[in-house]
Amino acid sequence: MDKTLISPSQQKDHLLTLARAAQQNAYARYSNFKVGAAVLLENGEIFTGCNVENASYGLTNCAERSAIFTAVSKLGGDNLKIRAVAVVNDHDAPCAPCGACRQVIAEFGPDAVVWYQGRNGIQESTMRQLLPECFSL
Ligand code: THU
Repeated sequence: MDKTLISPSQQKDHLLTLARAAQQNAYARYSNFKVGAAVLLENGEIFTGCNVENASYGLTNCAERSAIFTAVSKLGGDNLKIRAVAVVNDHDAPCAPCGACRQVIAEFGPDAVVWYQGRNGIQESTMRQLLPECFSL
């Protein structure tokens, strides 16, 4: 079946599973908070990423941005469209994408849906809800 015919919500569990697998590779020696993300593109392809921390803390890259930058590195960004993002962490702690990641997700997926650990299990939000009045050039 053409992967683009599968709606994002039908891919939810699959994306969460892939995000959990990516979380295993997280390099989180400073926070001990491992995060994994999976990004579903308009063309049906899925890219994953994990957080990569650094002794110089501010250089840390979040899982969401790792996944998106991997997709851009592979496909180029000009026609890249994100339909959905799934984010998990190894503490099952509430963890919506941070502000920086929201801006980066919005660059490629202003209409994307995002699943992440909320206070009561996996929560769903749209990018419009997470980043209203988003900056764009
Ligand atoms: N982190 C992510 O990877 N994604 C998020 O959505 C929130 C936070 C990472 C950054 C850092 O490595 C660790 O979680 C603790 O903040």
